Amino acid sequence: MPPSAQKFFLTTPIYYVNAHPHIGHAYTTIVADVLARRHRLLGDDTFFLTGTDEHGQKIERSAAAAGIPPQQFADKVSASFQQLWDRMGITYDDYIRTTEPRHKRGVQKLFRLLQDRGHIYLSTYTGQYCVSDEAYVDGPPGVRCPDCGRITETVSESNYYFRLSAFQQPVIDLIESGQMSIQPESRRNEVLSFLRSGLKDLSISRTSFHWGVPVTGDEAHVIYVWLDALANYMTAIGYGSDSPADREKFQRFWPANLHLVGKEIIRFHCVYWPAFLLAAGLPTPKAITAHGWLLFEESKMSKSRGNIVRTETILDGFGEHVYAKQFPESTKRERDLFATDVLRYFLLREIPFGQDGSFSFEAMLGRYDTDLASGYGNVVSRTLKQLQSGFESIFPDRIGVTRELRARRDNELQFTLEKCAELEVGTTRKASESRELFGNNGFNTGLERAWRAITDIDIFLAGQAPWRNPAGLSDREIGARRSLILTCAAESIRIITALLYPILPHATAKVWAQLGLGSIEEAAHRGELKDLQWGGLQPGTKLGPLAPIFPRADKGLAQIMADMEQNSTPQNLSGFTVQADAQTSTETEFAEAPLSSVSGDTPLAPEATDGPYPGVPAPSKLSNELTSAAAPAPLDPTHPAAGPRTSGIQEAHPIAQVAGSSSLTTSLHKTPSHSEAPTSGPFATQASIVPVNAQPANASPQIAIDDFAKVELRVAKILICERIPKADKLLRLEVDLGYERRQILSGIAEWYTPEDLLGRKIVVITNLAPRKMRGLESHGMLLAASTGENGKPALATFADADEVEVGARLK
Ligand code: MSP
Repeated sequence: MPPSAQKFFLTTPIYYVNAHPHIGHAYTTIVADVLARRHRLLGDDTFFLTGTDEHGQKIERSAAAAGIPPQQFADKVSASFQQLWDRMGITYDDYIRTTEPRHKRGVQKLFRLLQDRGHIYLSTYTGQYCVSDEAYVDGPPGVRCPDCGRITETVSESNYYFRLSAFQQPVIDLIESGQMSIQPESRRNEVLSFLRSGLKDLSISRTSFHWGVPVTGDEAHVIYVWLDALANYMTAIGYGSDSPADREKFQRFWPANLHLVGKEIIRFHCVYWPAFLLAAGLPTPKAITAHGWLLFEESKMSKSRGNIVRTETILDGFGEHVYAKQFPESTKRERDLFATDVLRYFLLREIPFGQDGSFSFEAMLGRYDTDLASGYGNVVSRTLKQLQSGFESIFPDRIGVTRELRARRDNELQFTLEKCAELEVGTTRKASESRELFGNNGFNTGLERAWRAITDIDIFLAGQAPWRNPAGLSDREIGARRSLILTCAAESIRIITALLYPILPHATAKVWAQLGLGSIEEAAHRGELKDLQWGGLQPGTKLGPLAPIFPRADKGLAQIMADMEQNSTPQNLSGFTVQADAQTSTETEFAEAPLSSVSGDTPLAPEATDGPYPGVPAPSKLSNELTSAAAPAPLDPTHPAAGPRTSGIQEAHPIAQVAGSSSLTTSLHKTPSHSEAPTSGPFATQASIVPVNAQPANASPQIAIDDFAKVELRVAKILICERIPKADKLLRLEVDLGYERRQILSGIAEWYTPEDLLGRKIVVITNLAPRKMRGLESHGMLLAASTGENGKPALATFADADEVEVGARLK
């Protein structure tokens, strides 16, 4: 590396080995690989780390269920991840496994350091424990688990605690000062509001199982799996090792420049991890970037939901049914890399980075067909084939030709020259916009911009028709015109191809070679792809052998892949069953120290005794203030009722005001307190829209416009609507708010069927504190008018629903 090179240490989360890899995992890894390739081509001293998270009670149990030792179990699943990344040509620099000695050594060193610096203490927890959910529960002996309703057991466990509470302000300072950046902004806000709501000390050891890294000198304890797992980012680059080479490596790469994570694990990365590091006196990561989820059949792809798509299905589908059909002699490696590019392109083009996105085989095939085969691939092949047939595969001298044609004052030729200049300007501008968008992780918009440049080439070729023989031109002029058109198109292709390299490394490598430019990887390594200037194609360069880059795919491929997925046996891995889903583990095994005895923090809200509507306590249980606060203000702020109000929503919903707290839901799992519960029910029926100019007899006290402004009302579209087993009155909705997707529970099942609601645009109060019912969290409330004798709610909708944008705020 040149001495001026900046270092760039990039990590993926390490994957749990209790679940097979699916395309949700591949998504994280693909994004990381794109970033790593981009930084390498920028000349940065790049280190890309990935690996597997192998300890913990879930793995221990999964292994026991499979009847094999946990290490053997972890070996198999970890190998399946690594094999998949290798199949996909992922350019990781190291693959860390938390069961490796180098890792254990480092974790123990970190634990000792935290102990020596006085941040760890021993304490005994006696309280309620839900064995099924592996979660601590606040409440008296015999209390039911708020999640699954089972009766909890009393447990007494002596644990080590980390003084997390002492790091609330230091971590806030770290974020606010910009020393540790969190992207996107909405996640940063979530983390800050989580931090501001207070931190409690964290249990960082367990004695009730043994599959973990033991605490040195007190081996009955194994170290908390998240402390163990997070430390991988340092142990992989030498932390804990005495060897000079490892020490040097650690000095060279730590702190991480970027931890790329899924949105559900930001609490661990943005709160616990920097707190551990601050406590240990070690530098903190420079940035954490969270991506959204890949949804399949409208919900997060995960094993427990049974809605996963395996990457292998896509590799085999596109590899065997598209590439191998065109190139029967191709190797398995070539097929895999071709199909990997298709997946890379689809995921990055389809999902706005940071948001959730849906996967479907049809959509993937559609993108392949229009963008890759008929788009980029077609433009490349049209241009290069004509250069091959008309110019014996040798690039003509564009500059000389331009000079010659300019001198000739022919309209047709002047028009061609003009169009070439336009293509040059357009390509250069779009490539630089696209590059900038990629630099800010705007992959989908960056690709969209790049594809506009590809469309420009297409239009240019169609408009200029190089094969035409315009009247009045000599043969020499016709040839010169043709060579100009084709070399301009080729220039444009070269610039776009260099730009696309990090995203489509294998397809662009082929285009590069066909352009006669040799190895794109070497060009990237030499820093030649950084910022391409128009005009770099050298006259006399000979094209490489031509072949289709993206062969045509049959329409039936989507169905073939769906069938392949259906017929696969994802549960079965080399003869044993992989049990739990990764997401489940996050929620249970890795629950933060839930100990009211330690922190006195807000307990989980057990399900309230239902009032007339499921999930909302009976009015007798509520104070008057809370009851009135549950009724939103009139929609029209100019309404005479919109005056000052004493028991406003602000008082009743302190956390509803916290910026960005809304989607904390998916990631931080902040549980509401009892006092918040009644205000955050999903009840359409408790709200009423008061017609303008009408003052109902039972009008609430007036409120000020500022009070009204505190209620965030937005247009939402219902994407999923389903009944909840054993909850007759509740419907579970997933709504699209434009900027995010949310789950809302609503007690309207008596009056509405899921079919009535699917696809409808409704009004949602988005800044109510989350509320848990039947083990599910509700993140908002539908707006409706109470009508009819039996209180049937009429949902607030729009007469011209097509005109109203999802996410629009009602004011
Ligand atoms: N083991 C922890 C991470 C520890 S890092 C110190 C873990 N593992 S995981 O296997 O559950 O998830 C790893 C990554 O895969 C996360 O970034 C997660 O978001 C990602 N995905 C798993 N399923 C996913 C989707 N359906 N969609 C997108 N990413 C998903 O968390």
